[in-house]
Amino acid sequence: MSAGYTVDEWGPVHAIPTFHKAGAGERTAPFGTAEHPIPLIIDSDPGLDDALAIGLAAASPEIQLLAVTTVGGNADVTRCTENALRLLHAYGRDDVPVAEGAAGALLGSIVRATEVHGESGIGSTTLEASTNAARPEGAVALIARLLETHPEPVAIAPIGPLTNIALLLRLYPHLSSRISHLCLMGGSIGEGNTTASAEFNIIADPEAADVVFRSGVPITMIGLDVTHQALLDRESAAALRALGTTSGRIAAELTEFALDRNLEWSGSTTTAIHDAVAVAHLMVPDLVAVAPYHVTVDTTQGPARGRTVCDGLPYRLRRDGRQPNADVGIVIDRGRFERLLVDAFARLP
Ligand code: RIB
Ligand code: CA
Repeated sequence: MSAGYTVDEWGPVHAIPTFHKAGAGERTAPFGTAEHPIPLIIDSDPGLDDALAIGLAAASPEIQLLAVTTVGGNADVTRCTENALRLLHAYGRDDVPVAEGAAGALLGSIVRATEVHGESGIGSTTLEASTNAARPEGAVALIARLLETHPEPVAIAPIGPLTNIALLLRLYPHLSSRISHLCLMGGSIGEGNTTASAEFNIIADPEAADVVFRSGVPITMIGLDVTHQALLDRESAAALRALGTTSGRIAAELTEFALDRNLEWSGSTTTAIHDAVAVAHLMVPDLVAVAPYHVTVDTTQGPARGRTVCDGLPYRLRRDGRQPNADVGIVIDRGRFERLLVDAFARLP
């Protein structure tokens, strides 16, 4: 289903000099409906925007949230796990199992984003302790068990570094066919955020990302090009707070923490809720426009390490005998995205 956007709408988004702007194509990702919710596992490093993504999934009848697994990224993995347990508790979803995954990358030193998300990973917000504990089997084994036992293939939304997903593909290669789609937040066609080349989730573990993009599993890459259009502002935070609920307050606090940081760092009055776009794409068929690209991950040790090299130019693909291996997000309707989030949090306690 096309999102009905035209490439011309890239204009204000792509101030960067892109030689080729792929036309919006048909999405390959499945999407859930209230009648047939999409079975989904979220692999996450909660994380300010992760927290809103998990809330969106927890509140949406289009999503059957099977599990939240954690990976070190925005904060230490133990923090991320505790955050996931406490967020699901606050959202009234103690029924969703949590399991802890990799503390750090397959290779190289551990990369963190605590300067962005705070040492806790959730800014200055404090959450009530959960009555649940993380499942002792661990993230990769839990994902594998769900893939093996669920009656239909399961979508996975990796919204942190891809270490757990790479380990899953290497430990259980026979289960890749049980993954209906990987709708991942990460990468970018253009500039990175952690470095000029690389977006955080990819540079936090480029080797893992390389395994994933080479895997042949159907992928949608929700990168910075589209997530930097998925913006909330002070009015959004006020609308969340006005819900008068615990979940609304949490979402408002997390959003305000990010807004305060962005204002201090760059004078910006908005904040991108990157991870929630990956979840939204799996529940709203025409919110995000995507285009087909061949994505390669730079795993060198130079200045381009962690870059997702996105080639959508048909001539080059034919010349080099390459096929697109991912849908890449290019446009999203900011107003619809904001309303989707606020309406979802209105359904949470
Ligand atoms: O670059 C944005 C990504 O890095 C998001 O997943 C955010 O949570 C951080 O992990
Ligand atoms: Ca994240």
